[in-house]
Amino acid sequence: MASLQVDGVRKNYGPTSVLRGVSLSIADGEFLTLLGPSGCGKSTLLRIVAGLEVQDAGSISIGGRAVDGLRPKSRDVAMVFQSYALYPHMTVASNMALPLRMRRLSAIQRVSLLGHLVPGRARITAEIEAEVTRVARSLGIAHLLGRKPGQLSGGQRQRVAVGRAMVRHPAVFLMDEPLSNLDAALRVQMRAEIKELHRRLGATFVYVTHDQAEAMTLSDRVAVMLDGELLQVSPPQDIYADPDDRRVAEFIGSPRINLLDGVVRERGLIDVAGSTLRIKADAAASAPLTLGIRPEALELAEHGGPDTLTGSVRLVEHMGSDLFVHLCLPGVDQPVLARLRAERAPQIASGQTLHLGVRADRLLLFARDGRRLRQDVGQGRGSIAAVREIA
Ligand SMILES: Nc1ncnc2c1ncn2[C@@H]1O[C@H](COP(=O)(O)OP(=O)(O)OP(=O)(O)O)[C@@H](O)[C@H]1O
Ligand SMILES: [Mg+2]
Repeated sequence: MASLQVDGVRKNYGPTSVLRGVSLSIADGEFLTLLGPSGCGKSTLLRIVAGLEVQDAGSISIGGRAVDGLRPKSRDVAMVFQSYALYPHMTVASNMALPLRMRRLSAIQRVSLLGHLVPGRARITAEIEAEVTRVARSLGIAHLLGRKPGQLSGGQRQRVAVGRAMVRHPAVFLMDEPLSNLDAALRVQMRAEIKELHRRLGATFVYVTHDQAEAMTLSDRVAVMLDGELLQVSPPQDIYADPDDRRVAEFIGSPRINLLDGVVRERGLIDVAGSTLRIKADAAASAPLTLGIRPEALELAEHGGPDTLTGSVRLVEHMGSDLFVHLCLPGVDQPVLARLRAERAPQIASGQTLHLGVRADRLLLFARDGRRLRQDVGQGRGSIAAVREIA
């Protein structure tokens, strides 16, 4: 078991700056997810932690020890790749045994004929087999040990890839989108299995995904990454309800957060889309702000007036338990989306005028540069080669 420290890591590929000074402290036994859109640098960071890629600046420590000069196999990490990176010509047992064979057997012991003559080989091989069987049982794949990867389902392959990481008992598991090749139902099932695995092993997990549902359900903390920078590292509920940055608020949440431009009228009041709303932030008069309102933070109001938005209904979508209402507001291009409980909003038709109430404590306020203004400010508050490297 070990903590993991990433300090000021930078990485450029030619003129492209892929990581722009990433720092992150992950506690021993924590499940941390790196969440961000495609191309933001998640895999690059993971590969640098694993030692498969060298950073241009900054440092990585595992268990309090700088590992920058160490080969991947000496870092006490194991990586599960998106592609699983299983050798197609080897059985499941051989694939899982590979990291142990690479570590425990010398080059000559690994050669099939000659190796038999070297003392100690039989004992080590038996130990490796026993460990592979034990891990395979714990993952429910013991009956598949004699098969080749091509004879397995996607979920079974994924378990083999996890098993191959587990046999070494690494201090840190690095998982790069391990579920992305699976269909939706299997993803949900495997998500639960990974969470259970983390609980059982108690190891440190760094998990990469661009799927927010995975990040939110699995993690102790989520690190939101964009364009090679970490924008926020917080528990999932804070990432959603208390974002530090407008880009975090926009990235997290489905349907997306509504963003409206407004201007502070006087302390505590803001004019937005033809309405006036109370705000708790300590913003100066005439300051231009952006309001973020989650779709479920809007509720039906009987009348217009303070703390309500009034507009005309463009579209109503029935989603079963919920109703998505798209409301066009005066002077705003994009309709706002309200998520209403279906039983509380029985008859809403396109074209009608509707009032939606906004509670001041559910408003998120952002400066125009994207920085969050806290409401209580005033109160002073890989690849197969890589597998071999790691093995
Ligand atoms: N070896 C490389 N040479 C040049 N550019 C690279 C290399 N590896 C990655 N990049 C670039 O670095 C950026 C970040 O890539 P990375 O694979 O880390 O993204 P990611 O966040 O993992 O994306 P995805 O979710 O699509 O896997 C991308 O623009 C990518 O094209
Ligand atoms: Mg990637």
